[in-house]
Amino acid sequence: MKNIRLTVDPSVEVSHINREIYGHFSEHLGRCIYNGIYVGEDSSVPNTKGVRNDIIEALKKIRIPVLRWPGGCFADEYHWKDGIGPKESRKKMVNTNWGGVVEDNSFGTHEFMDLCEELGCEPYVAGNLGSGTIAEMSEWVEYMTFDGISPMAELRRQNGREKPWKLKYFGIGNENWGCGGNMRPEYYSDLYKRYQCFCKDFSGSRLYKVACGPSGGDTHWTRVLLENVKPQHTKGISLHHYTIPTGDWNSKGSATEFSDEVYYSTISQTLTMDGIIRSHIAVMDELDPKNEIALIVDEWGIWADVEEGTNPGFLYQQNTMRDAIVAAINLNIFNQYSRRVAMANIAQMVNVLQAVILTEGEKMILTPTYHVFDMFKEHQDAELVRSVCEDFVQEGARMISSSVSKKDGCLLATVSNASLDEDVELEIDLGGFEAAKAEGTILTGEVRAHNTFDVPEAVKPAECAVELRDGRAYVKLPACSVVSVRFAGK
Ligand code: AHR
Repeated sequence: MKNIRLTVDPSVEVSHINREIYGHFSEHLGRCIYNGIYVGEDSSVPNTKGVRNDIIEALKKIRIPVLRWPGGCFADEYHWKDGIGPKESRKKMVNTNWGGVVEDNSFGTHEFMDLCEELGCEPYVAGNLGSGTIAEMSEWVEYMTFDGISPMAELRRQNGREKPWKLKYFGIGNENWGCGGNMRPEYYSDLYKRYQCFCKDFSGSRLYKVACGPSGGDTHWTRVLLENVKPQHTKGISLHHYTIPTGDWNSKGSATEFSDEVYYSTISQTLTMDGIIRSHIAVMDELDPKNEIALIVDEWGIWADVEEGTNPGFLYQQNTMRDAIVAAINLNIFNQYSRRVAMANIAQMVNVLQAVILTEGEKMILTPTYHVFDMFKEHQDAELVRSVCEDFVQEGARMISSSVSKKDGCLLATVSNASLDEDVELEIDLGGFEAAKAEGTILTGEVRAHNTFDVPEAVKPAECAVELRDGRAYVKLPACSVVSVRFAGK
């Protein structure tokens, strides 16, 4: 048993935690959209406008704040006009990035924007800079947001939507250093400025434009981009960084059957997010000293080998307690850097990579990662307060991650213990915060434990005891656990 102290200073508010840090990502990839979120209106699975009701309910529960779509790599080959109008006449295309399957475009702009309205979340649309034209991108914005008389607004009305939707977040290209066109940052930033120039603010909306930022620790891309692209051109730059369990893209390792050694390697890999964010923030602080451009981590999560017998292009993987620890570590990191990190989107929401939801026919399960989003949701739109936590190292990786925030007179502390064999007795020094009561929730289990369609609640949160004594709280974190404690003020 290790004794660890978390010291909180609730009087020091460090930064605002945008609720968008708890965002999600859905791509036309494998069974994320089709046979995942979207089953079609004629499906026997209960649905609203073709979207599964059980998924809608689950996402509302975790208060999904923002949803990114339609990709990913798919975004730079997506032509939005193929996905509007009567479904039977929508163009069929090949999804070249993901399995070469037929994309029938039955889920398009209307279906996505209506889904976001239903969920009460912000849509985050990724435009096609890689293979689309400026006119096409500009018209898409007009179609979605213009309330007056114009060709695109008329077309939208003909397709059944009188009023424009509310659209704030708009990405201009995706991974343009890779699948989005293999560009150099010099070339991309020139193109970015040109494309963004024709994406107008219509009818009172104000676009929050996001430029394609770096992959992992590529600070050269960040530097060149920010030397060319200024706050008048963009509100954010993206960052993509995945956790590869073995650290080897050619043999990433199974999502459920991994050795302890690979587990600790996964923790080391995921902790690199901290240094990566810090390195980009250093460049941003230098080139954008007024902090006018945000870092948007719009793809993150574990990327393991696909489940045996599934299409390699569909990126379907299971989700264990290891994923829960990884989610907690990353969300705590994003909270800690929330002065620059304004949004993060886990890849991906349903049936792809580190999914929060898995489906099979009529069945749906919530993964351990889902439960972490639920336990952390009170951080949304809270103020990060100063806190320092003791830690220990195993197999070269730090075992404890934490963050503490303040909202509506309450404090929320979220802490994870990644160790596989060390239990922790956590003492939280509340720094003068007078707690009337404390509610603890714990997610724990064997590191390979996961929910299946036959046993859907093998891993689920439970209440945990929190003892309040002399301005301190005491809570146990068993090996491989995530704990959240909400303190209500007197
Ligand atoms: O999330 C899967 C893929 O990973 C996305 O399409 C792409 O942007 C990234 O390389």
